[in-house]
Parts: sequence; structure tokens; C-alpha cells
Amino acid sequence: MKLRQVVVITGASSGIGRGAAQAFAARGAGVVLAARSEQALTEVARECGERGGRALAVPTDVSDEEAVQILARRAVEKFGRIDVWVNAAAVWSYGRFEDTPGPVFRQIVDTTLLGQVYAARAVLPQFRTQGHGLLINIGSLYGRLSAPYIAPYVTAKWGLLGFSEVLRQELRDAPGITVCTILPGAVDTPIYRHAANYIGRQIRPLPPVTSPDRVVTAVLRAADHPQREIVVGQTHRIGAWIHRLTPRFYDRLITPFVNACAVRNFPLPSHHGTVFTADSPTHTVDDGWRRHDHRLVGRALMVSAGVTALATAGARAVHRRRGQTRSVTIHQAPTAR
Ligand SMILES: NC(=O)c1ccc[n+]([C@@H]2O[C@H](COP(=O)([O-])OP(=O)(O)OC[C@H]3O[C@@H](n4cnc5c(N)ncnc54)[C@H](OP(=O)(O)O)[C@@H]3O)[C@@H](O)[C@H]2O)c1
Repeated sequence: MKLRQVVVITGASSGIGRGAAQAFAARGAGVVLAARSEQALTEVARECGERGGRALAVPTDVSDEEAVQILARRAVEKFGRIDVWVNAAAVWSYGRFEDTPGPVFRQIVDTTLLGQVYAARAVLPQFRTQGHGLLINIGSLYGRLSAPYIAPYVTAKWGLLGFSEVLRQELRDAPGITVCTILPGAVDTPIYRHAANYIGRQIRPLPPVTSPDRVVTAVLRAADHPQREIVVGQTHRIGAWIHRLTPRFYDRLITPFVNACAVRNFPLPSHHGTVFTADSPTHTVDDGWRRHDHRLVGRALMVSAGVTALATAGARAVHRRRGQTRSVTIHQAPTAR
């Protein structure tokens, strides 16, 4: 059976990468799944098979260049070609730069930026041999703007946008090869649960949180109609505009905004999250933040409806009492004269 597409996905064990693997498989693609967690990849391979795709799981640490070379070779040995390569592997941490251990900073950049560089080095020769290929780098709006407590991630994502631009310029001699960057805002995946934490408080994504399905749809759209860049999550795009137009105002505003909207009031001991090792039980596509937020909005609406009803009833009662007092005064006035 001829496969519609052969797609390599890094970060395929969780979140956006896992959702993309399922979606490509449902379209009858051959998918090559890469991440560190062998157990989670085996589950994803089964999910892909159930959706009609053919899957090959290749446990890979993308911060190891030789491992990424092997991944590309295994994909070509299995399916004969690579049409699309999706770079979705990433790790991140929360903590002031001065509190973030050096090895954690390095591993985040090694995974989130250099992992994508190694992928490009592994797959571009194959794309040139075939005369076609699409490299999809999942960046972030944090490649356009910045926020406190996530210095290594912001460093990696800014670097990734620059790297992708240079690739595009150098690949003008190969019209069949395209490099697409996808820039999501906050997405409802386990990445926040996976993050290392050195600020001692739990963290949540900055609202509004987008469904991972929307990013997966963008990846599929890019695979059908390759384009330079796709932004997912328009509200966060406004942040990027403020950042560009009034950088001083942005710098002043962003820390109180993050403290109020992302740092929760629940204490949390420092930990390295999944920066160095995978945690397969937490690997899902969706992490439930939107359900949580909908419940909060529902509760807030109920409370404000209750407060409005009470205030209206109170105002009516006061109004009635004033009306009675006024009628008593009018009634008594002639007697007073
Ligand atoms: N969620 C958001 O709010 C958001 C917003 C903008 C951009 N993004 C980007 O979207 C992409 C996917 O993130 P996500 O939200 O889906 O996060 P996620 O659920 O935490 O998934 C991250 C994936 O990366 C893999 N990974 C981590 N370290 C690795 C390593 N050294 N080698 C190979 N694989 C590794 C993880 O698998 P193992 O642990 O099994 O290795 C996992 O499959 C990332 O590039 C992220 O920066 C996410």
C-alpha cells in the first residue's frame, strides 16, 4: 500500500507531537515517532495503528546528535523516504535566571534549540536527494516576545526563529524544500506539568489557553500547503505587538502580569521536571487547563449573577422604603402647616 506521506515527529510521546502523530496516522501516513520515553511511544504507535497509519517508534534523545542521525536513517530504512519532519520536542523550566541551575539551562537549549538543529542536519541531505521535503519547526510566540522566569526557553525559541530564517534563505536553491515555523501561544498540554520549577510555586499557562487540536490542525495545514509561518492563538499575538511597539511599557507590565496570571498560590518544592528524564505517566495530548478555566469562568459568572441579583433586590427594597417615606412626608405636610 502506498503511504500518503512519511512523517517523522520528535516529541511524539506527549502534547502537540502526540496529537500530530495521531492526526497524520488517521490520514494514512507512515509515522516515525521519536521521544525519550519508550513506554509512551509504544502506546502512541498503537494509537496510530488503530487510526489506520503505520508507525515506527524510535526512542531518541534529540539532544544527542548521533541519536538524531540514527532516527533519520531508521525512518528511511523503514519507509524509503521522509516527506515531512515535525520538530516538537522541548523542555522548559520556571525560575529566575539566577536560580536556574547551569546544567538545566544547557539541557533546555540542547533539547529545544539544538535538537531542531540536529534534525535539520540529519534530514536536509535526504530532502535534497528526494528533491522535496518539509521541515516544520514548532517554535513559540516566546520566539517573538519574552517573559520572566523562563530564560532558557525564551533563549531557545528566539534562536530557533533565527535559525529557521537562515535555513529558508539558504534553501532558495532547492524550491522543493520548505521550512515552516509554527508559533503557538499558550496551549493546553502537559508541558507546564513537565517544566522544572525553581520559584517554589505552582505554575499555570497564561490564559487564554488554546486547544492542542488547533496546533495540530496548523501542522496538517502546513503539510498540505507549506507556508513560511503560522501563528496559533491570536490573543497572544496582541502581546507580540505590544512587545514590538512599546518595549519599555511591555517590560514594566509583563512581570506583574505573569505573577498575577501564571504563578499560583500553591507551594511547590524545587524540581527538575522532565528536563533530564521522561515521565511517561504524565504524557497525554491534553492537560485539562481549559476545563479548569471553563469551570472558573462558570463559577465567576454564577457569583456575579448572584451578586447582581442581591444588589438589584437590595436596590429595589431601598427604593420601595424611600417611596413609602416620601408618601408619609407628603401626607404629613398639610398638618404641619
Ligand atoms: N504547550 C504550550 O503552551 C506551547 C506553546 C508554544 C509552543 N509550544 C511548543 O510545542 C512543542 C510541543 O510541546 P508540548 O506543549 O506538546 O509539550 P509536552 O507535552 O511536554 O511534549 C514535549 C515532548 O518533547 C519530548 N522531549 C523532551 N525532551 C526530549 C529529548 N531530550 N529528546 C526527545 N524528546 C524529548 C517529550 O517526550 P519525552 O519526555 O518522552 O522525551 C514530549 O514528547 C514544543 O516545541 C513547545 O515548545 C508549546
